[in-house]
Amino acid sequence: MRTQVGIIGAGPAGLLLARILQVHGIESVVLEGRSRDHVLARIRAGVLEQGTVDTLNEYGVGERLMHEGIPHAEMQLRWAGRRHALPLVDETNRRMTTYGQAKVVRDLIDLRETDHLPLLFDAPVESLEDVNSDRPRIRFAHDGQQRTLECDFIAGCDGFHGVSRQYSPDAEEKSALREYPYGWFGVLVEAAPNPEIRGFAHTTRGAAVCSARSKTIGRLYLQVDPNENLDAWSDDDIWNELDLRMQDGSNNRLNRGRILQRDFARLRAFVCESMRYGRLCIAGDAAHIVPPSGAKGLNLAVGDVRVLAEALRRFLTKGDTDLIDRYSEICLRRIWHSVHWSCLLTDAIHMAPGQSRFDTQMQYEALQHWVYTEIGRKHFVSSMLGLPYEV
Ligand code: APR
Repeated sequence: MRTQVGIIGAGPAGLLLARILQVHGIESVVLEGRSRDHVLARIRAGVLEQGTVDTLNEYGVGERLMHEGIPHAEMQLRWAGRRHALPLVDETNRRMTTYGQAKVVRDLIDLRETDHLPLLFDAPVESLEDVNSDRPRIRFAHDGQQRTLECDFIAGCDGFHGVSRQYSPDAEEKSALREYPYGWFGVLVEAAPNPEIRGFAHTTRGAAVCSARSKTIGRLYLQVDPNENLDAWSDDDIWNELDLRMQDGSNNRLNRGRILQRDFARLRAFVCESMRYGRLCIAGDAAHIVPPSGAKGLNLAVGDVRVLAEALRRFLTKGDTDLIDRYSEICLRRIWHSVHWSCLLTDAIHMAPGQSRFDTQMQYEALQHWVYTEIGRKHFVSSMLGLPYEV
């Protein structure tokens, strides 16, 4: 097999890259290790920056998003048992949109399959060869056979646990990690999200987060210790704890319903600053992880892929290496900005083990700054909405 760009991973990064390249007349093959059903069923983030919405529209993947996406113009923060609202729209009318990542992935897969373009599921990549030559190769398994894909360029969009990052010789040396001493116990629920109860809550019991996936499906989180026995929590325990942490002195309560799925994510921030080596670039979660508080994971992946697609277009059609040479540098400006914001927000709403009263008061000050000062509100809104794209 041979193609121009071999793409590893059919998450949002790999699929969107394939789509943008297609629009620019560049061939690609997407290799995904897991099954189609597995990829479509995965529950992930669900809040899109305006830039992500605009990018999906620009490349013809926005039709369902325009019908089913829920724009929101306000954000709620709770602390000390009180609710505070923050506008989430800027002066140019940019706002956030709720639309599940699973839907973004489905829209991209549907389009690729309708166009009969190569997307192989159950095709785990085992190794890369000659990455630093002009004929790099991807070795993968498919249909019980070992196969090779020869490419002009390889895009590693294979997530945090993927294989590509390790092929950059200085990846480890140029990586930075922060692990938080807590995680998010997430539930997906079949219950109409109550618009009066959403956003983040800081409580001395730990943080809680309420968000919507659609008009009938909610996504809720509780801060828990990483060693918490989640099986010991009954559905009622989860709802009761959410009610306690989201209380704001009003009679408003969450609408309860069936818990469809439970999961746990340890909160961490990770950045690999070596995003390009020879004919390999990594993008999305393969290069960085953000704590989920800022909803930046998917949005950062879109930012990377925009730069990568344009860099590949210039390189493969004109032999122009300028942008591909600056790929890491350009992406990292946006990545560190989002990582910093996600960590600020994380630090402000979670209770660290053994946290002092002093630390809690510092968190209240940060939260008040964002809600009650003009400069704080501007910082909050522009950080949530995301930096403009350079490319
Ligand atoms: N071979 C083929 N595919 C692989 C391999 C491999 N060796 N290793 C991993 N993959 C696939 C995974 O199965 C997954 O489908 O790569 C894909 C990576 O997708 P994501 O983890 O979704 O990462 P990315 O596309 O960068 O999306 C960015 O935004 O909301 C956040 O973290 C969330 O997934 C999200 C991300």
